[in-house]
Amino acid sequence: MEQNDYITNAENEDTYFRRFSKYFDELKWLYQELYENDAMFAELCVKIKRFYLIREEELKKRDRQREKNPDWYKKNDMLGIMFYIDNFANTINGVKEKLGYLEQCNVNYIHLMPFLDSPKGSSDGGYAVADFRKVQPELGTMDDLEALTAECHKKNINVCMDFVMNHTSDQHEWAKKARNGDREYMNRYFFFDNDTIPRQYEETVPQVFPTTAPGNFTWLEDSKHYVMTTFYPYQWDLNYANPEVFNEMMYHFLYLANRGIDVIRIDAVPYIWKELGTNCRNLKKVHTIVRIMRMISEIVCPGVLLLGEVVMEPEKVAPYFGTIEKPECHMLYNVTTMATTWHTVATRNVSLLREQLDKVNALPKEYVFLNYLRCHDDIGWGLDYKSLAEKGLEERSHKQYLNDYFQGFAGYSNSKGELYNADPVTGDARFCGTTASMCGIEKAKSEGKEADMEKAIQCDLMLHAYMFMQSGIPVLYGGDEIGQLNDYSYKENPDKREDSRYLHRGKMIWENVEKIKQPDTVEAKLFSGLQKLEQIRKTEKTFLTAANCYTLDTWTESVLGMVREYQGEKIIGLFNFSEHEQMAWIDEKDGVYRELITDYEMPASGVTMPPYGFCYLKKLLPK
Ligand code: GLC
Repeated sequence: MEQNDYITNAENEDTYFRRFSKYFDELKWLYQELYENDAMFAELCVKIKRFYLIREEELKKRDRQREKNPDWYKKNDMLGIMFYIDNFANTINGVKEKLGYLEQCNVNYIHLMPFLDSPKGSSDGGYAVADFRKVQPELGTMDDLEALTAECHKKNINVCMDFVMNHTSDQHEWAKKARNGDREYMNRYFFFDNDTIPRQYEETVPQVFPTTAPGNFTWLEDSKHYVMTTFYPYQWDLNYANPEVFNEMMYHFLYLANRGIDVIRIDAVPYIWKELGTNCRNLKKVHTIVRIMRMISEIVCPGVLLLGEVVMEPEKVAPYFGTIEKPECHMLYNVTTMATTWHTVATRNVSLLREQLDKVNALPKEYVFLNYLRCHDDIGWGLDYKSLAEKGLEERSHKQYLNDYFQGFAGYSNSKGELYNADPVTGDARFCGTTASMCGIEKAKSEGKEADMEKAIQCDLMLHAYMFMQSGIPVLYGGDEIGQLNDYSYKENPDKREDSRYLHRGKMIWENVEKIKQPDTVEAKLFSGLQKLEQIRKTEKTFLTAANCYTLDTWTESVLGMVREYQGEKIIGLFNFSEHEQMAWIDEKDGVYRELITDYEMPASGVTMPPYGFCYLKKLLPK
C-alpha cells in the first residue's frame, strides 16, 4: 500500500460527511414515509456512522477506489462461482486453501452459500438464520471469515454472501422472546391470536412451498398464536412496518459488510413487505426499503454491491434496479432467461429464447444481470406463456412436458432429475438436477454410451458458451466445471429427504477434480472447454456489459444467433440446441471472420453446426 493511500481522520470525516449529505434528504424523506419516527431515524443515522468509523481502513480504501470507478463490476473479466462451504471445502479455512483451484477456474467472485448460525434439521439450507453475527460453528468463526475475505481481496476475488432479511429462524433470540409472549418481540413478527386475519391473508397470498410447507401461517401450540411463515414453518417473517426491525436488520447488514463482504445477496427481497388484501410480493414499500438500503451502503460502504434475489415474472424483476438517478440493486439474477434456456433445451426451438434475449438486450446497459444455468434452488418454469400460447403451447401441459422431459420420460431426453414441490392442487411442479445430469452426462455414464456422452458434454459446453455470451456476470454453479452429477444421498438424510433441491447440492468430489489432468475424461473436457471460453470472454472487449447486443436470425429453428459489438469490433455467437447437425443460414457480407475457439478463418455465412455445436465468430478488421 502506498503511503498516500491512507487518509487522515479529518479526511475520513470529510468523506463520510460528503456521502451523508448527498443522500440525507432522500434518506430522511423515505424513512419518514415508512415510519414517521424521528427518534428511530436519528438512531439510524448515529449507528450507521459508527459502522463507518469502525470499518477497516483496507476496506475503506477499496470503497474509495470503487467510488472513483463505479462501473468496476461491469467488466468482462467478472466470473463467479457459488458453492456451499461444507460441500466445497468443509470449512471457511478449507475454502482459503482452495483459492488456488478457484483461480484456476478463472473466477474472481465467490458466492459462499448461507453459513450463518442456523439450527440443524430446520435450516432450509442455511436460509433460517438464528444469529446474524455468528458463523455455523462447524464451518468456522467470524475471524475465519474476515481472514478469508482479506485473502480473497489480495487475489482480487470478491466475496458474496446471503443476507436473509425476510425472516429469521424460530430459534433466533427475537423469535424465542416473541414465543414467550414478549410484546416488543411479537411485534417484530406477525403474530395473531386467532385465525381471522391469517385466513384473510391466505385468500390473496400464494404459496412458496405448497407441498413441503403449505400455507403462510404456523400455529404455535405453546404460545397459542399464529405466526406468519411464508417459507418453512420455522422461518418467521419479519415485520418491516416496525422500524426496530428495519434498523436492527440494517445494523446486521453493515456488520456483515464490515467483515469484508463485497456482494450482499438480498434473499427473497420481493417478500419483505406485507399488506393484507395483496399477494404480499413486490409491494411498493419493498422498493422504498431497498432504496434506503442502497443509500446506506453508498454512505457507509460504497464498495459493496447489492444483489437482489428476485425470482419473479419478468416485468417484476427489472424494477429492482430502480432508476438511473435512484438505483436500488446493483445486480439481479437473469432468472427468466435461465428458465427459458432449459425450455429451449427441451424443445430444440430457440424462438422463445430469442424473444427473451431481445427483451433483456433492450434494457439500459447500466443494468447488470447475473447469468447462470443452475443454482442451489429448483428451476421454476416462469416462461412467457402468452407468447407460447401464440406458438400453440398451453401452460399446464407445457410445464408437464418440461418436467417429463427433464426426468427423462419424454422427447428424446437423456436428462435425469427430480420434481420439486409438485402441487397436487394446481398440478404445478418445479425441477431439480445438476447441469451435467440435465444435459445427459449421468445417463450416458450409467449406460456406458460413448456417443451419447460426447453429445452430453457438447451440450453442457454449448450452454456455458451461450451463457457467457450474455451481457452481465456469468456465475458457475460449483461442481459444474467438472460435471458433477445428481447426488441421491439426500434421501437417506431425514433432515433433507423431503427437499429434492439437495439433489443438486452434493459434496464436491475432489477425486474427480484430479481427473482434469487426464485429457480423455469428462472432467477434463468440461474443465478445459470452460477455461478456453473464460479466456476468450475476458480478453475480447465485445464481452463488456457496455457492448451493443442483439440476436440474429439463423433461419433454423434450433440455432440461436447472438451478436455483440463494441467500438468497431464484432462477434457472432452461434449455438445449436439440437442433437443433430444444423445449418445456420446467416450471411454476413461484411468481411472475413475468425472462429475464436478453433482459430479458423471463415466467412460468416452458411455455417454448418455439429450436434450441440457452438462458435464465436469474430470479424477481422481490414489489415
Ligand atoms: C431464497 C433461497 C432459497 C430459500 C428461500 C427462503 O429463495 O434461494 O433457497 O429457500 O429464499 O429463504
